[in-house]
Amino acid sequence: MCGIVGYTGFQDAYDIVINGLRRLEYRGYDSAGIVLEDKNNNFEVKKTKGKVSDLVDISENLKGTSHIGMGHTRWATHGVPSDRNSHPHVSNDGKIALVHNGIIENYDTIKTMLIGKGFTFLSETDTEVLVNLIQYILDAQNVDFPQAVRYALNEVYGAYAITVMHQDYPGVLVVGRLGSPLAIGLGDKEYFIASDASPFVEFTKEAVYLEDGHMATISLEKGVDIRSIKENEKIEPAIQELKVSLEQIEKGGYEHFMLKEIFEQPKSIQDTLRGRLLVNEGIIKMAGIWDHLDRINKAERIIIIACGTSWHAGLIGEYLIEEFARIPVEVEYASEFRYRNPIITEKDIVVAISQSGETADSMAAIKLAKEKGAFIYGICNVVDSSIARFSDAGSYTHAGPEIGVASTKAFTAQLTILSLIALKLGKHNGNLSNAEFMRLITELDNIPKKVEEVLKSTHDYVKEIAHDFVNSTNFLYLGRGFNFPAALEGALKLKEISYIHAEGYPAAEMKHGPIALIDENMPIVIIAPKKGHYDKIVSNVQEIKARKGKVIAVVNYGDEQVASMADYVIEIPETSECFSPIVASIPLQLLAYYIAVYRGANVDQPRNLAKSVTVE
Ligand code: F6R
Repeated sequence: MCGIVGYTGFQDAYDIVINGLRRLEYRGYDSAGIVLEDKNNNFEVKKTKGKVSDLVDISENLKGTSHIGMGHTRWATHGVPSDRNSHPHVSNDGKIALVHNGIIENYDTIKTMLIGKGFTFLSETDTEVLVNLIQYILDAQNVDFPQAVRYALNEVYGAYAITVMHQDYPGVLVVGRLGSPLAIGLGDKEYFIASDASPFVEFTKEAVYLEDGHMATISLEKGVDIRSIKENEKIEPAIQELKVSLEQIEKGGYEHFMLKEIFEQPKSIQDTLRGRLLVNEGIIKMAGIWDHLDRINKAERIIIIACGTSWHAGLIGEYLIEEFARIPVEVEYASEFRYRNPIITEKDIVVAISQSGETADSMAAIKLAKEKGAFIYGICNVVDSSIARFSDAGSYTHAGPEIGVASTKAFTAQLTILSLIALKLGKHNGNLSNAEFMRLITELDNIPKKVEEVLKSTHDYVKEIAHDFVNSTNFLYLGRGFNFPAALEGALKLKEISYIHAEGYPAAEMKHGPIALIDENMPIVIIAPKKGHYDKIVSNVQEIKARKGKVIAVVNYGDEQVASMADYVIEIPETSECFSPIVASIPLQLLAYYIAVYRGANVDQPRNLAKSVTVE
């Protein structure tokens, strides 16, 4: 949801900012902009609707002209994507430039006040209001630039990560954060700023992740001065060592990040299991659960909150936890939960699932739950993200950076963590016998191999059959039990990257409405593994074929009944029903990917979407 990059040092700021924006483009890609300070301390601003490549087309002349600057890649909130609404925004006096990720909720009131004072506005954005508020404070009060930024931030509410430059303060970058992420890379005689560390991993391994409610003034002369925005209290920087490598954030020979991430799943699932699943010792080690076992075991219910793909993982989590731990589970969309006055007590455990760990609705939902006394357990992929830090305990999925906007490896990693949690709780509270526990953990341990096998055995076939659906306008995805949420996820993958309308349904619900849609033009993906209501699924396929629907069936090796009726048969290895969504999701990801590629869609950056949704 918008990416920010900033740089001050000895290298070419243009290159650093543009390359950084390319890496952050997954966060938003409807407009992009850059500002550099030239030798005479004047600003050179270039910005445009479109992608970072469009920005490069209009700004290449700035290459090699400056050692300090900042840039922005946008996902529009206030104001349509346009040149004018693109960041950076500059104050009326032309001296202050600002880039912003987030939403200033009270921008309208401030804008009215500023217009009353004679300010004019070129854009429809909330950001232009903030940059002019800083100018107003500087003009009206006897404060310096960092203080003016601080005063302004105390006037606004909402969410922000900002970077600001002032012509009268050459070489200085001021940054602030509330609710949106911001990292400061500490190099040797150079500093980097970015929404995540990817723009600077090749230059430094040391970073400070700014905390909510903190700001920093950064200059080569004085280093990094961190203060609390409210009280102006000095804060010692907590320097962290970056674990992410350049290789992890590059495409590694794949055409798209999404395909790379699909193929990374054997490894990412293994990484999720690493150090936790110790089959030989017959144990699951999870500090997040172990340290709070009493609290978790006393839970009268678990409420899982999440959005999008993570919500689908949550639904499978409900099946897993209820099956093995016998604790009642409710799964809620974070956006609904936070606004419906939910009944939450101190006996509840609220599990937040989020790849980015920054999703605004999920964050607000856990804040509400914590206020009401619930214990918060975070399942995040991004280390040190806001949700991870706010949680009382949690587990990282360790899937590695997910850059394709459509979530793939984060989803299967979430299912893996949820499997571990359910099995661990089930074993501990006596609902799972030792023999059953051992059988299940041995199977779970084999899942990375099965995923690898499925990638090898289905890739070419799925790639080929995807051609047949390039002109489809609708799809149905059906599954039962554990695979009903997998059907929802398959449908979401297809619609978000190919723009084909797709709906997921529990297979048995088909006859209560969607069956009316079925004719010879309707492709229906049906997940039909041997274990899990197979006979019922056979009947569902018969019902579809009686209406001439085109069936793409995901079945186990050697399947005869469903395979004999289906138009397309994708075979996957058998596994326990509870783990089958992990394996079955792989060909569905590939199908969505290839249909989208053949339709000429931008798979890694689907229209209107962004990787991390830090606004409501
Ligand atoms: C779909 C997708 C989104 C996210 C959702 C939640 O492929 O990626 O639906 O799952 O925006 O994001 P996180 O998991 O970061 O909270």
